[in-house]
Amino acid sequence: MNVNSCRIIELPKITDSRGNLTFVEGDIIPFDIGRVYYLYDIPAGSERGGHAHKALHQFLVASSGAFKVHVEDGKNRKTFSLDRPYFGLYIPPMLWRTLDDFVTGSVALAIVSARYDEDDYFRDYSEYCRYVSTQ
Ligand code: TYD
Repeated sequence: MNVNSCRIIELPKITDSRGNLTFVEGDIIPFDIGRVYYLYDIPAGSERGGHAHKALHQFLVASSGAFKVHVEDGKNRKTFSLDRPYFGLYIPPMLWRTLDDFVTGSVALAIVSARYDEDDYFRDYSEYCRYVSTQ
């Protein structure tokens, strides 16, 4: 898997004078939704992520605020800025990712393909690089 497999997906936006509405469902993102979680109350200067997933597909949205997502495949690195609730970043499995540069009050919404499983993580960067170099 390489960083060029990541892509920004524009989500439907139902504009309304009472407030806009955006939704995510199965045919908008390239995997079946298995879990949703979100990061919030993120102190300035924090970095999240810092791992890769073996099989998990992920879709990240700045549902409030803004932050950056850096993805790496062992050779190349790419940075995406998320700053609208109607754009999200699709990250396939086997990419190292870190999230940083959070604007105060940001909420990072993660829609992913499976239940939480610690065995699905690479948490050690050298181990991850060693593994991808053999693939
Ligand atoms: P982690 O995935 O490392 O967070 P992030 O990538 O956002 O920085 O998870 C942080 C901790 O939370 C870790 O101890 C595992 C736990 N956790 C769960 O119990 N369930 C979940 O769905 C997630 C995403 C994390």
